[in-house]
Amino acid sequence: MSLPKAELHLHIEGTLEPELAFELAARNGVELPYADTDTLRKAYRFEDLQSFLNLYYELMAVLRTERDFEDLANAYLARAAAQGVRHAEIFFDPQAHLARGVEMGTVVEGLGRALEHSQAVHGVSTQLIMCFLRDESAASALETLEAAKPYLDRIVGVGLDSAEVGHPPAKFREVYEAAAAMGLRRVAHAGEEGPPEYIVEALDVLGVERIDHGLRCMESPTLVERLVRDRVPLTLCPLSNVRLRTVDVLGDHPLPAMLDAGLMCTVNSDDPAYFGGYAGDNFEAVRVALGLGEEQLRELARNSFLASFLEHDEGLRAR
Ligand code: HPA
Ligand code: ZN
Repeated sequence: MSLPKAELHLHIEGTLEPELAFELAARNGVELPYADTDTLRKAYRFEDLQSFLNLYYELMAVLRTERDFEDLANAYLARAAAQGVRHAEIFFDPQAHLARGVEMGTVVEGLGRALEHSQAVHGVSTQLIMCFLRDESAASALETLEAAKPYLDRIVGVGLDSAEVGHPPAKFREVYEAAAAMGLRRVAHAGEEGPPEYIVEALDVLGVERIDHGLRCMESPTLVERLVRDRVPLTLCPLSNVRLRTVDVLGDHPLPAMLDAGLMCTVNSDDPAYFGGYAGDNFEAVRVALGLGEEQLRELARNSFLASFLEHDEGLRAR
């Protein structure tokens, strides 16, 4: 679906298609424990968030050089552009790379090489959001923020991802305070597998401006009321929810109820190489499975620009 849209919830490491994974493995002399791309694709059956994360972190082994990150981002931007994405706010997971001996500079400079030409080459404006892994320590998050200091001109904000349950947002109060003091914007995954209380904590303790996923807000009417009143954007990822079994089938997705409740919803792809579709595919899937009409699809697309970190007039131009 080529309706112009902004993508606000996209992990660049989750755009690694099997073909590129094998190409990079060969280029870097990395052995992958899969015979070929078909065998690898067959491994894309997940029970929950953790079973996905295990494969997601395993495949990152092929990402080693600046050129690898540049190629990864270029491949994503070309696909996103073909599906109507005009602006992308792209997550990356530096701790997962630092742990493998890949420096912050390699990741940011590599992604940056693709991003700096993205407007001219793909017609997509871009920003980078650095995520902390919530199953790592708060001290590690602080060290990561420190390591990012030389690159802050390239990074618009911070986020929080990885295994949610048992890792409440409040664990990262200090690093979010430090990030805010550096002028960084703040978002966090909350209410994907975790309870509605994590969404409240992300807002109250971390001061986030958007909630990534936020699906489980629907269990708390008082929270829904607050999110509606304060126009807090939710970056939903419908195909991801089905693949990670947060929702049984797409036809059961609460998106229509969320729109009816007045929530500021957006539709995004999360980890498109793993979950069966890019941004436009997610729009098309909810149109078909949930019977969304033209007006609702336009509302979702309009919300994506309004909820972006583009200045208001830039957002209107990108649209
Ligand atoms: N949730 C949490 N962490 C993640 C995800 C996700 O959907 N994708 C990549 N890291
Ligand atoms: Zn995500």
